[in-house]
Amino acid sequence: TARPLIAPSILSADFARLGEEIRAVAGPGETRADWVHVDVMDAHFVPNLTLGLPVVQSLREATDLPLDCHLMIEDPDRWAIGYAEAGAYNVTVHVEAAKDPVKIAKDLRAAGAKAGLSVKPGTPLEDHLDTLKHYDTLLVMSVEPGFGGQSFIPEVLDKVRTARRLVDTGHLKVLVEIDGGINADTIGQAAEAGVDCFVAGSAVYGAEDPGKAVAALRDLAAH
Ligand code: DX5
Ligand code: ZN
Repeated sequence: TARPLIAPSILSADFARLGEEIRAVAGPGETRADWVHVDVMDAHFVPNLTLGLPVVQSLREATDLPLDCHLMIEDPDRWAIGYAEAGAYNVTVHVEAAKDPVKIAKDLRAAGAKAGLSVKPGTPLEDHLDTLKHYDTLLVMSVEPGFGGQSFIPEVLDKVRTARRLVDTGHLKVLVEIDGGINADTIGQAAEAGVDCFVAGSAVYGAEDPGKAVAALRDLAAH
């Protein structure tokens, strides 16, 4: 299997020093993150408020790492394209919020970005399995979206296994991504279920050395 991807979430970083916090996971070798996960929250789709387009535009100038923008917002049909235009590498919208997620994905790809679809822990995949080919990432939430530092919900691994099977048998180029409660204790079971890309907030930015935490998580996911 391919090398596991690690995407530190800056939700757990110091928002007054975002540039430095990203540089802490942009070092050499195994300490380098694959993507930087950017949690956009609007206080409507989720009960928390974080950051939006102006911050993503500035982060684009501040790092070479790919920005993985996770939009936890209402009406992503209106807003998602702006993140692609701001230079996001991947833009993920929630199936619970999007009116036409396939159209969003097509527009994102046309704008040069990759497109992701995310499901909350209680949202079944079934209705969307036949649209998977339109996406580059499928983000399975393993906590209720809104806050970092919550406990991993192992029941979502069934969805990961289903997605893995479909992607493999259909030879789809969709990366299965997981987000929420990923740390040294939980990453192994997620890897075993077939996750390709692991978001980790508190496990990276709560560590003494975020770069070392990235390397350690990737190593655990690979075994
Ligand atoms: C939660 C966000 C996550 C969050 C994960 O709604 O989508 O990306 O940062 O944080 P941890 O890894 O601490 O659970
Ligand atoms: Zn996220």
